[in-house]
Amino acid sequence: MHKIRHERPAPFVDSFVRADPTALNTIIHHSQHTLTQYLAEGDAPRSGRNAHETAAAVTRVDLEHPIGTFDAALAELCELWLDHAVWYHHPRYIAHLNCPITATAVGADLLATTVNTAVESWDQASSAAAIEGHLLEFFARKLRWPEDPHSRTRGVFTSGGTQSNLQALYIAREKALGAQGVQGLSQLRLYTSSHAHYSVLRAAHLLGLADTAVITIESDAEHRLDAADLARRIAADVADGYTPMAVVATAGATDRGTIDPLESIAKVCRHAGVHLHVDAAYGGILLLSPTQRHRLRGMDAADSVTVDFHKGYFQPVACSAILLRDPADCALVSWHADYLNPEDATDHNLADFSLQTTRRFDALKLWMTLRTHGADALGEAFDACCAAARDAARRVDAHPRFALRATPELSTVLFTPADAPASLVHIVRQRLLERGDVIVATTTFEGAPCWKFTILDPQLRGTDIDAILGLIEREMDAVDQANAQPSPSALAIQPAR
Ligand SMILES: Cc1ncc(COP(=O)(O)O)c(C=O)c1O
Repeated sequence: MHKIRHERPAPFVDSFVRADPTALNTIIHHSQHTLTQYLAEGDAPRSGRNAHETAAAVTRVDLEHPIGTFDAALAELCELWLDHAVWYHHPRYIAHLNCPITATAVGADLLATTVNTAVESWDQASSAAAIEGHLLEFFARKLRWPEDPHSRTRGVFTSGGTQSNLQALYIAREKALGAQGVQGLSQLRLYTSSHAHYSVLRAAHLLGLADTAVITIESDAEHRLDAADLARRIAADVADGYTPMAVVATAGATDRGTIDPLESIAKVCRHAGVHLHVDAAYGGILLLSPTQRHRLRGMDAADSVTVDFHKGYFQPVACSAILLRDPADCALVSWHADYLNPEDATDHNLADFSLQTTRRFDALKLWMTLRTHGADALGEAFDACCAAARDAARRVDAHPRFALRATPELSTVLFTPADAPASLVHIVRQRLLERGDVIVATTTFEGAPCWKFTILDPQLRGTDIDAILGLIEREMDAVDQANAQPSPSALAIQPAR
């Protein structure tokens, strides 16, 4: 623990970025130097410090008394956070949809932060708004949507898939309600599958739909939404006087990575005149894949699409977008404020299309990544993640102590202990997390708990997977040994250390 000297702070205004370019350079340089050391030297995805010790260390900090210099605050921060951060670039971090990020994107984020651009109105955003718009148009072309002759906005960048899904369903709700307004709420029906992301259900709730208004469509043997059941349910509801508001299909389910049969679903939606939203938060990277683009066939018929760039596109959090096929739909969320985006404004104000007001220039990192490395590089990198997942699945399958639960559809691997109680899944994951040497996720698949690897590191090797499996075995053995002691259940749930 460093001893912290309480120095008199420099005048506050001297710390503003325009005041002293040398000071800004020094601070950026020191931050970057600290980070490169952590990135080079970290030998585990996290330290083994537990939640109690972590909270105690943080709450000991007296925010009433500044330390006085950035370097002192940084030294303190190393002990509070960086020594105990969770490092997603580490090969043994294999839990959630967090990606290792590109240096290019970090540079772009630094630029966006330093200029401090807020993109919501033309008088704040200027060309940043045009850059965001051009990117959205690029993705509209990748989706093979018809060009808009008036070059209108095709969506908006958001804070993540959750917000993108909410906005998509808000738009679908407004279209379905039409002139009758909220009077028609109780008649609305939303169709999705049991593998849809939970944010879809929460969005429905926020939008005033009753739980019974969300219809879970059956899944086929491969856990994909069954388009025939969808057609039946919509027809029955229409016959009963209900208004189908939207269908949410998933392109890349969070756990298994499955992609719903988009072509068949689109046909049903077209026939019934229902808004089709595709949640491609995870699988949207296939738009750039040289080998897997065909798996999104049918997505061109979607009315709205969620794509998270902070998942398979290797971008820093936060970076996501909702894309809209019909630019006219963008206006359905518009609210106007005299000070910002008055109704009679002739400027292009992005606040017209967003649920957020103040909004970061998150498009810039993706822009710089595409300009520097090109779209193919991103698609190929994700293809490598999928190949690594298939290789990991083969290693799990060949291992006598593990049972593969499903072949990977994208870059996740689901598996359980071969001959041990399923309860071991959570105990082992917790022990690994407490040690910090492997971070793996758990989820439920076909009603039973399982481990989940989410692979978003294109450079992950088979030997990394073998090492992780070895550490999982180590914890399984430790639990076995603990269970052989006199008071088994009490010992089995003990922390690893
Ligand atoms: C399919 C899917 N949709 C939506 C989301 C939510 O995205 P976010 O966490 O960016 O809000 C996720 C997150 O994992 C997801 O997997």
